Amino acid sequence: MFDSGFGGLTVARAVMDLLPDEHLVYLGDTGRYPYGPRPQPEVRDFALEIADTMVDRFDVKAVVVACNTAAAAALDTLTESLAVPVIGVIEPGARALIAATRNRRVGVIGTVGTIGSGAYQRAVEATNAQVDLTCAACPGFVEFVERGETTGDQVTVLAERLLAPVCDADVDALLLGCTHYPYLARTISDVMGRNVVLVSSADETAFEVRVVLDATGLARKGGCGGATHRFLSSGDVAWFEEIGRRLLGPELDHAEAIEWA
Ligand code: DGL
Repeated sequence: MFDSGFGGLTVARAVMDLLPDEHLVYLGDTGRYPYGPRPQPEVRDFALEIADTMVDRFDVKAVVVACNTAAAAALDTLTESLAVPVIGVIEPGARALIAATRNRRVGVIGTVGTIGSGAYQRAVEATNAQVDLTCAACPGFVEFVERGETTGDQVTVLAERLLAPVCDADVDALLLGCTHYPYLARTISDVMGRNVVLVSSADETAFEVRVVLDATGLARKGGCGGATHRFLSSGDVAWFEEIGRRLLGPELDHAEAIEWA
């Protein structure tokens, strides 16, 4: 499983809770975060490099792209080029969003890269649901999470400005289309109001991982115990351990460095 940094830990948490028998290798590419403002071809190259590393060096049986920006840029390429199943966050998130709305007005927030790619517009359209979709990019949110600053006046002021389009569209369900954003849920909810359901793709993606592992016969047998969790960072490993443990929980007791050639 990989992300540009801490965001994918929201998906890691959900997978670890739903599938406690599965081994997990999580890679946060904190040395090259943020992905959101980068051109799609560059993010695609990063995603391919990481996924190849996962398969070649860590012998993973499936890859979860726990990053919307990377999934928007590279899911098709990864699916074509890897010999193992690849699971993204966008389709599961879009399905959960449609299931959550009552007034048929829905919103998606994400990075500039994700929203600009049109991936969510296509994913929501593919569900054939009759909904009005409003999308908004939220540049700056990821940086707050990476600094470990998930509440406070500064992030609230930014949220009020960036969430204005989805507030004005009167959505009743808002998809956090960046895996970092669930860590800002309190601030986002304060700005959106209690009547707006915040949808995170993490749980839905974990269910998708279970479906894929079951369907391909790759699921690890229940009760055999000893599932290991490894965490890798391409940036400051001590920082990754400190903030990562605060965000994910005690399982992140140690992180390893990974370097790109
Ligand atoms: N967590 C990533 C996502 O879901 C993006 C973060 C970034 O901009 O690096 O899009």
